[in-house]
Amino acid sequence: MSAAELRERAPESLGEAEAAAELKALASEIGHHDRLYHDKDAPEISDGDYDGLRRRNDALEALFPALVRDDSPSRRVGARPSSGFSSVAHSVPMLSLGNAFDDEDVADFVERVRRFLGLSEEEEVAVVAEPKIDGLAVSIRYEGGRYARAATRGDGQTGEDITANVVTIDEVPKVLQGNNVPDVIEVRGEIYLRRDDFFTLNETREEAGEARFANPRNAAAGSLRQLDVTVTASRPLRLFLYTWGEVSALPADTHSGMLDVFRSWGLPVNPEIELCRDVAGLLERYRAIGEMRAGLPYDIDGVVYKVDRLDWQSRLGFVSRAPRWAIAHKFPAEQAQTILSDIRIQVGRTGSLTPVAILEPVTVGGVVVSNATLHNEDEIERKGVWIGDTVVVQRAGDVIPQVVRPILEKRPSDALPYVFPETCPVCGSHAVRELNPKTGKPDVARRCTGGLICPAQAVERLRHFVSRLAFDIEGLGDKQITFFWEQELIRNPVDIFDLATKAGNTIAEFEGWGELSVRNLYAAIDERRTIGLDRFINALGIRHVGETTARLLARTYGDFTAFRIAMATATVGEGDDWTYLVDIDGIGETVAAAIVDFFDEPHNLAVVDGLAEHLTIEAVEQATGGSPVSGKTVVFTGSLEEMTRQEAKARAEGLGAKVAGTVSVRTDFVVAGPGAGTKLKKAVELGVTVMTETEWLEFIAEK
Ligand code: IVH
Repeated sequence: MSAAELRERAPESLGEAEAAAELKALASEIGHHDRLYHDKDAPEISDGDYDGLRRRNDALEALFPALVRDDSPSRRVGARPSSGFSSVAHSVPMLSLGNAFDDEDVADFVERVRRFLGLSEEEEVAVVAEPKIDGLAVSIRYEGGRYARAATRGDGQTGEDITANVVTIDEVPKVLQGNNVPDVIEVRGEIYLRRDDFFTLNETREEAGEARFANPRNAAAGSLRQLDVTVTASRPLRLFLYTWGEVSALPADTHSGMLDVFRSWGLPVNPEIELCRDVAGLLERYRAIGEMRAGLPYDIDGVVYKVDRLDWQSRLGFVSRAPRWAIAHKFPAEQAQTILSDIRIQVGRTGSLTPVAILEPVTVGGVVVSNATLHNEDEIERKGVWIGDTVVVQRAGDVIPQVVRPILEKRPSDALPYVFPETCPVCGSHAVRELNPKTGKPDVARRCTGGLICPAQAVERLRHFVSRLAFDIEGLGDKQITFFWEQELIRNPVDIFDLATKAGNTIAEFEGWGELSVRNLYAAIDERRTIGLDRFINALGIRHVGETTARLLARTYGDFTAFRIAMATATVGEGDDWTYLVDIDGIGETVAAAIVDFFDEPHNLAVVDGLAEHLTIEAVEQATGGSPVSGKTVVFTGSLEEMTRQEAKARAEGLGAKVAGTVSVRTDFVVAGPGAGTKLKKAVELGVTVMTETEWLEFIAEK
């Protein structure tokens, strides 16, 4: 079938291979139109046609979630606006939430809060329980009480400017009522579509020959992100507000108080929000909301708990991207049954062989699922699934679909157990399960030993290198990486920065490329010749080192040279550099060993140094720029009276300090409380600055 014929077909009527081909074509076409619109300001198609392409992409992705491409236009949302929306930097980041899946997780949450704050058993911890709305997060800014701007969440730091879209929503007040409205307030919440409105919208679309949306959330997203705001205005979008970002003066000192104030200003707040006194109260409310779920006019996917007192919230602070003072208690996953027709192996960037279940497409919780992860070899064994089995499949929130168990009564006589390969399906090298040095047991993952000769690993590493949280090079997605790999133009990360010099304009000759797209690609690469140390480290793809660990390392070592020298001289298990590394809170021995091993490989060092020659690697900005302890190492010893050990550590880290467990020449401060012993003695011997807890608190508060 020709590409044009494929374009005419309804998304629902496409098979998997056709959908994959169509998604590939859409990613490249939409990318092309984005570039025309932005870089040349000369769009070739109308906004309406452009939106049609995006809608088709969204509809296909909803039907075939497993086929969502890394270079999909939907993934570029917010990360770097590329679709006609300009970007908005959030002065207060928009966070996500940690999850609780059962009662025990909820009890643990409240217990963690108590422990962190050092509260006694008798002290009541009031917590608000709110339905978790399944929509799209939005931040709406009011200045002088007037609607000023609205933005999507994006990656949490930067979103898209949707001011003109959000203003069309009836429920959004244009002016806040009342006399206690702060000069500046960003109210945040969820934009959603009611289920009945979603059904009506789909019927209308069907009549008009347009693709149906897969679920209310997708429909809300598709309706909001419209360059033509009259489309947004025609959709019955709604809103619930449940938190805030920048605010010039807080009008209340509890979360529930804030929501009451929101209501008094005329902002829509969910009516099912309640204040609970203890864990039993939270769980009771969770069950009650669960029971009303099907009857609510909108979709929810759990209950969010938030510590009510705002002073406690600010002391609790954040870990990574989620607050310590809130958690989402998810509803159990939605399940369905289908046939597992095959198991295929994917090879990841660290060489791990991941089995993927190929399923007969089935709808689970409103989305069609056609493959699911089986995690690893042991998991297949443990679950006892055979090829040909009818299996239970589940989806929980955004999580990748999973195979839960086989239904043995339905096992056909020709079903076959799966034999896990002992060679890499991509390069043919042996695939082995290494012994974990600590437990003496084999690693769960079987890994290809082909290293850099394995194209799957090399390509996956390159994909990771250019991905959103790493170098984030526009126009260099999975498809292009594979293409350049095949052309032998990019075989390692350094080649990316040599591409223009080596390939020049020859790329323009290849099918699908033109002079303009080559120029744009080179410009996008040039744009990333300056990069933060954290992203740089993340991009290297060191085993066990993701975004969070990369940031920790960058903050600890400060600049590239210091990091490079320390890593190259460190030896696993001994010496000062090793101690310093494993002392970083959040980095255990396994992670530290993986980092040191990485720098022990000459070809890795060659890549790192090759990159350093082409790049300006910027030292990371510390959490609080002017903090006197930023970049310093502090050791707490003895007992603390004003705060718990955990809080002391979190606050120090929040100010950019590193908290260590042992005193060495690298220690800058020792905070000693009553009962301090050997660490204090060592500090004195080494001439390290020693402070009392009170002195420390004054020191960090002062500057
Ligand atoms: S609070 C710092 N409350 O869930 C607090 N989020 O999984 C951040 N969400 O990004 C969010 N209902 O888009 C909060 N009542 C609620 C919510 C809610 C839905 C969404 C929100 C957030 C995501 C986190």
